[in-house]
Amino acid sequence: MKCEAVLLAAGLGTRMKSRLPKVLHPLAGVPMVDWSIEACSQATKKKPYLVVGPESEELQRQADGRCIFIEQTERLGTGHAVMQAHESLEGITDLVLVAHADLPLLRTVTFERLISRQSENAGPLTILTAEVPESRGFGRVKRDESGKIRGIIEELHATPEERAIRELNVGAYVFRADWLWENLPKLPLSLKGEYYLTDMVSLAVEQGNAIESVSITSQDEVIGINTREHLAEAEHAVRMRINRRWMDEGVTIIDPATTYIDLDVVLGQDTVIFPNTHLEGATRIGEDCRIGPNSIIRSSVVGNDSRIEASVVEGATLEEDVEIGPFAHLRAGAHLCRGVHMGNFGEVKNSRLEAGVKLGHFSYIGDAHIGENTNIGAGTVTCNFDGENKHHTEIGADVFIGSDTMLVAPLKIGRGSRTGAGSVVTKDVPDWSLAAGVPARVIRKLDKHD
Ligand code: UD1
Ligand code: CA
Repeated sequence: MKCEAVLLAAGLGTRMKSRLPKVLHPLAGVPMVDWSIEACSQATKKKPYLVVGPESEELQRQADGRCIFIEQTERLGTGHAVMQAHESLEGITDLVLVAHADLPLLRTVTFERLISRQSENAGPLTILTAEVPESRGFGRVKRDESGKIRGIIEELHATPEERAIRELNVGAYVFRADWLWENLPKLPLSLKGEYYLTDMVSLAVEQGNAIESVSITSQDEVIGINTREHLAEAEHAVRMRINRRWMDEGVTIIDPATTYIDLDVVLGQDTVIFPNTHLEGATRIGEDCRIGPNSIIRSSVVGNDSRIEASVVEGATLEEDVEIGPFAHLRAGAHLCRGVHMGNFGEVKNSRLEAGVKLGHFSYIGDAHIGENTNIGAGTVTCNFDGENKHHTEIGADVFIGSDTMLVAPLKIGRGSRTGAGSVVTKDVPDWSLAAGVPARVIRKLDKHD
């Protein structure tokens, strides 16, 4: 049977008290709505229809290309939101999956179960229910003595006895399309002045239909997000899901409770993640690495056998067997080739450090290229900025930069050369030369085998 998905995301999310639309709040580094779009697309094998409210440019930009937008110009409730999809979907599908976009943890398999149950159901709809200890303001599922579903009552309108019902309406339904379009216009206006999609259940019952349900027991899937507290609960749940996945794939996570891995991160086998480590964006970490403790790695690539301790790495590339930290900072465009060692209090930005470069202590390297096996002494600074422009520093292979050298760019230090401690180098230094002083001058040629 053909099934199309309608995701509801036009609500204001007022309980979030945020300037950002609710469904754009990130979960594991990815906007909440992406989680729902992904799960729905996989279940139906089609782009879902996303019902959005007025002034939803930001949301439309974010979800562009991955769903079909339908605008709900007046926010008149979940039933009214689904009505907006009528014109687009009439006649093109047998079933309609409706899900709330503030339920990002619902899995593809759950949607698939719901769809397949309704495919075999003679009645007009199947609803998703759950029994979990925390109700989070969800509607309650009312059943009669024989266990037949009679309706859904919103918490707002529920009596104390109804509130005591443990079975919750999760917020995902599959309808027979023809029945849905025929009956949506019959929805009554609720006491709150909205058309509740949930009232489709009692409508179907009044017509003599039996209501099918699929129940889920997993606690985390049911975390619907209405408040920041729910958002934090969902964040915790997705983190645990991601951590478990990587442990299943052969990654050691010393303390999952303090390991924060974004959805799009990729990790290699036998890598060990130490506590309080944040892996963000589309970061890729190779095999047999040791990452953390206390590290942040953002949108970076780290090769096999690398070691990062108590450091911040952003937009950088580390080839294999690179060792950094503690307290190193790599910024955008830092490229550390195989075997580079970078110790404490170094910063590298927009620079390529060829294989075997050593930069042990207190250095700033910006807009530079450093040749193979060069040693950068403690306290070396590339003075790359003249107040208006950034300038390049070129350092050859096998160079030895003395401690506390200021390299005033643009500048070239030739292959095999050395600078004396405390030099301020303002002019290019040829190959195999020793420059020293303030400002530095060449004081001696070096033996090539020095
Ligand atoms: C709704 C259900 C409740 C269920 C709960 C759990 C109704 C009336 N109530 O309550 O039974 O337990 O979800 O998920 O359906 N939306 C629109 N347009 C609107 C109003 C809402 O698109 O005019 C969207 C929202 O963006 C949201 C979803 O529909 O994604 C649900 O709306 P929300 O206000 O969060 O409903 P709940 O109070 O959570
Ligand atoms: Ca909700």
